[in-house]
Amino acid sequence: MKPFVYVTRKLPDEITSRLLEKYEVEMWPKEEEKVPREVLLEKVKQADALLTVISDQLDEELFSQADQLKVVANMAVGYDNVDLQAASKHNVAICNTPDVLTDTTADLTFALLLATARRMMEAAEFVKQGQWKSWSPMQLVGTDVHHKTIGIVGMGKIGTVVAKRAAGFDMEIIYYNRNRHEVAEEMLGARYCSFDELLQEADFVVCLAPLTEQTKGMFQREQFQKMKKEAIFINASRGPIINEQALLDALQAGDIAAAGLDVFEKEPIDADHPLLKLPNVVALPHIGSATKETRLAMMETCCDNLDAIFEDRPPKTLVNKELLTFRQ
Ligand code: GLV
Repeated sequence: MKPFVYVTRKLPDEITSRLLEKYEVEMWPKEEEKVPREVLLEKVKQADALLTVISDQLDEELFSQADQLKVVANMAVGYDNVDLQAASKHNVAICNTPDVLTDTTADLTFALLLATARRMMEAAEFVKQGQWKSWSPMQLVGTDVHHKTIGIVGMGKIGTVVAKRAAGFDMEIIYYNRNRHEVAEEMLGARYCSFDELLQEADFVVCLAPLTEQTKGMFQREQFQKMKKEAIFINASRGPIINEQALLDALQAGDIAAAGLDVFEKEPIDADHPLLKLPNVVALPHIGSATKETRLAMMETCCDNLDAIFEDRPPKTLVNKELLTFRQ
């Protein structure tokens, strides 16, 4: 009998066809709407595998009902939606999709930085609303990006390739990370500094850290107050790393100049959220990895990981690596 895979979001036909070659597949039929919790809890009882997205909460309650579950292929590099300890306790392999999205997410991060600095969303609206009457000397002036200082909080794979892009813009690169990143220092001239130093020195503070107990709420009002008044804050990792109310207060009080946000405390953010009313906020709907090529590559990685588990090979991107020894 083929293993049963429950997929929590409708995937493109080419991926479904690949899955159907080896598995019995059932899929939540909607692309734009998350699977209701009660449906997921019901399906997991029969599932040998889950293919999930970041809006699915995978916790003790779920794993404790998952008698047959061997693997979760989570279509994201971040796995803060998964209780890893619970997964390991129930002997469920958790796999993510790193690497294939690194450049794409870095592109978006840098695009968001440019769009915020150069007020591109405001400017595009200005043209579409018919407000463009003439070229004018100080119309929609933004701030330079080139030759400024970028401060990267979280120098992982994505942080490193954002730094590479910044180097192309002749930026000075400083970073704060759990560990030193010698390659970024040697290849890109990135300078390691404390979190406080970074906040004080950077013209662009770019958050790319994973959401963990340590990073949750890392940016409070105090951190925004330490930044330069002209600083621009960019977040392309996870919303809860920032206290959103503190960010709103900081923007309203002029502690910092602007923010570019691809992620939010609650996703989707309410359309009437006060942050979205500010002209100096560029808000995107969590699209860091959203290119056709990359999203398909992420899905293929999920399929590769499922295949590995059911063919008794170690999956390429296993997160809870302790399971490798546990399973032998
Ligand atoms: C998306 O946010 C991801 O973690 O891949």
